[in-house]
Amino acid sequence: MLTPQLNRHASSLLFCHGGSLPSGRGVPHGPAVMVRSKKTSKRSGVRSIRCALKEFRSSQAETDAVLAIKAVATVKVTVGGLLSNLGLPRGIDDVKDLLGKTLLLELVSTELDPKTGREKETVKAYAKKAKQHGDEIEYEASFKVPKDFGDIGGVFVVNEHRKEMFLEEIKLDASDHTATATTLTITCKSWVHSKSDNTDKRLFFVNKSYLPAQTPAGLRRLREEELEVIRGDGQGERKAFERIYDYDLYNDLGDPDHDVSKTRPVLGGSKEFPYPRRCRTGRPRSKKDPESETRSGFVYVPRDEAFSEVKSATFSSRTLRSALRAAIPSIQTAVIDAKLGFPHFNAIDSLFGDGLTLPKRQGVGFFQGLLPRLVNAITGGTQELLLFDSPEMIERDKFSWLRDEEFARQTLAGVNPYAIELIKEFPLVSKLDPEVYGPPESAITEEMIEEEINGVMTVHEAIENKRLFMLDYHDLLLPYVHKVRELEGTTLYGSRTIFFLTNDGTLRPLAIELTIPASATGPQWKQVFRPRRDATGAWLWRHAKSHVRAHDSCHHELISHWLRTHCCVEPYSIAAHRQLSEMHPIYRLLHPHFRYTMEINALARQALINGGGIIEISFSPLKYSMEISSVAYDQLWRFDMEALPADLIRRGMAVEDPTAEHGLRLTVDDYPFANDGLLIWSAIKQWVEDYVSHYYPDPSHITDDYELQRWWDEVRTEGHGDKKDEPWWPKLNTLESLIHTLTTIIWVASAHHAAVNFGQYGFGGYFPNRPSIARTNMPTEDAQKENFVRFLRKPEVSLLECLPSQIQATVVMAVLDVLSSHSVDEEYLGSELEAAWVKDPVIQRAYERFNGRIREIEGIIDSRNSDPKLKNRVGAGVVPYELMKPFSKPGITGMGIPNSVSI
Ligand SMILES: [Fe+2]
Repeated sequence: MLTPQLNRHASSLLFCHGGSLPSGRGVPHGPAVMVRSKKTSKRSGVRSIRCALKEFRSSQAETDAVLAIKAVATVKVTVGGLLSNLGLPRGIDDVKDLLGKTLLLELVSTELDPKTGREKETVKAYAKKAKQHGDEIEYEASFKVPKDFGDIGGVFVVNEHRKEMFLEEIKLDASDHTATATTLTITCKSWVHSKSDNTDKRLFFVNKSYLPAQTPAGLRRLREEELEVIRGDGQGERKAFERIYDYDLYNDLGDPDHDVSKTRPVLGGSKEFPYPRRCRTGRPRSKKDPESETRSGFVYVPRDEAFSEVKSATFSSRTLRSALRAAIPSIQTAVIDAKLGFPHFNAIDSLFGDGLTLPKRQGVGFFQGLLPRLVNAITGGTQELLLFDSPEMIERDKFSWLRDEEFARQTLAGVNPYAIELIKEFPLVSKLDPEVYGPPESAITEEMIEEEINGVMTVHEAIENKRLFMLDYHDLLLPYVHKVRELEGTTLYGSRTIFFLTNDGTLRPLAIELTIPASATGPQWKQVFRPRRDATGAWLWRHAKSHVRAHDSCHHELISHWLRTHCCVEPYSIAAHRQLSEMHPIYRLLHPHFRYTMEINALARQALINGGGIIEISFSPLKYSMEISSVAYDQLWRFDMEALPADLIRRGMAVEDPTAEHGLRLTVDDYPFANDGLLIWSAIKQWVEDYVSHYYPDPSHITDDYELQRWWDEVRTEGHGDKKDEPWWPKLNTLESLIHTLTTIIWVASAHHAAVNFGQYGFGGYFPNRPSIARTNMPTEDAQKENFVRFLRKPEVSLLECLPSQIQATVVMAVLDVLSSHSVDEEYLGSELEAAWVKDPVIQRAYERFNGRIREIEGIIDSRNSDPKLKNRVGAGVVPYELMKPFSKPGITGMGIPNSVSI
């Protein structure tokens, strides 16, 4: 009866202890494969309940041929849900529990009734609260199941408490007269709404995966109906207990009803501002701007997407929430002059030594409760102090940020390794309209470059030999320069920075060009700055680098990080929930990579990327920041270029080479992100290939899989609807294209995100190394005037005025600190085996192989970081490149690849 879902706890237990796993090198804390379900059966000799039933039949009279099945439903004690000690009084629920009428379970057969051809009657029983182990409470039910019921395919659950409950799993045990037993575990890990909120029953399918065409007859209708429920009807405002996945535009970033100056354009749904879709909340429309949705303290995400209090994995997210909602606004009020910069560099150092005294009026302990890692109580507990940890690069070498080589190294091994590109043609020419922006030719000349490289080769030879590289923030930023310059407290240029690949494999910056486009009142302005030894030239070079660093910070946060990972992954997840049944193998493959992404994005819309949010107050383009991410989506984002190999090839950082490892030859041999990233990419690809090949032995199964095809159609036409007609979308019609597509999605959600997320504090915590904003113009913009005179007299003060203000710096540091931190039970790539995969030995072996390879990669990265030939990752005071190391301890470690975008 439970045949397909035969419980393998005994074998899981062995597997969990890793006896057969390949041993990795240098893996101090890399976990072996772990099975998600914590429960392990004490029984061995597990076998099919159907077998039990057959034996049972042979020895019993036909008339009493029923099988006794015991169900144990495990419910987690949660902070706000059922069984909590908080919130509403539990009296009535407790009384109901005593009466045993709180949890109704119904067993669903996989078979149709052979006589009627219709679904069989379910078998119902109430589960009664039985025992508690720690934070888990067990409800037990007893069923008498008819002999001809067939295999169990799922369980309906009705929660008759007044509160929702978090259902961990349902375990079914069948016993017979020989006292042997079989078990079937259904992994739920889901919130079950209260019947008083919604009278619909919840259905949990068994852990076995089925392609749509293979769905047992008794489950086909239910499979379809479950998806219809999840898709919803697109009407009304969503409620917290619902689990409806639907799409909407980014029309809730502004807040015109409260403040007209916070009116923001809708992102998505237009030619001007194309954008991916977010999860629909259905909040009322704004009165002042009917195109926009009103904002509220509660932002709906489907119930199981919300950070769950049952896992400490969400600790960082909760810290971020409290930081954004309460701590940072309060810190802002502590600084009287919002424009005030740091008076000298020692004042910046004091953030890591003396700290920033926080306002008293909130009450002692207020900030410490919100930002426990950053806030200490002082002076006998009467005051609180905001004290930052010294970032690793400053710990290792306090002055490394001043070195040109470190500036260049971070383009290959820093937190934004997605921007550096090969220069393929010279001179550099803008693609923007010269009628609008002025002459397109760059002011960087061949003579300048040849002078900087001491004539060791001509520019032509340097191009030929692939020795010139660039950070190109010219065409992206130039259209926004005049608009941004009209805002108070900021400035902007278009920029190009040229690097030379030296013989030791490192990059050296040669020149920075800053440009202001032509306007109605003046011609185009552009200047080139180069490394200089004279005092004025050296300080101007530092200024110019600060502008480029601010441009790179914007590119990093708005594009490499927010747009390409957080924002673009959400539609894949929405579509997967709407179109792939929970019993679909591809749903089960992808689900771990979507965990908590919607919730972290909802939080970002509330306080990070919204009008007046942290990005808008602390990054150079201020209120135009999100528009720029829309422009980047329009001009640069293509699904097929999100695969790491394609991304590297597009930027000229690699060429295809069938003889090379991974089929790619890197243009810069020692490109730490690319070298380590390709190891991870290949490991993911192998795992996906093993998985997909198992479920789709024939390519026709892919094209015939209507759920899979609808999912991918919807990703293109709805989730990324503004790009639906682009020719580059892959078609899911071969094994290869399916593997490549899934590998790309998993790569983006895991390793791409980790590469640009977990080094944020390490590289940006000391903000002169990565200022989020450059606030003042270059002193040479008008060389006759006061600014230039002040610069000549006190260049350090002039530079500090350009860097972020005190409030901008501390707010960004506090946020980066939280964003860069791993939780205690973070779920890392390749570490946890989903309960559904335990059922299948082929998948289990494939996952073991994946885990083994991931652990091996960790060792390879360690050995690379101790190879003195690799100067982009090894050297005096150099931070090793560990962002692609798969596992991590909790906290800020600068390593670790979680499965999903969850912080
Ligand atoms: Fe992130």
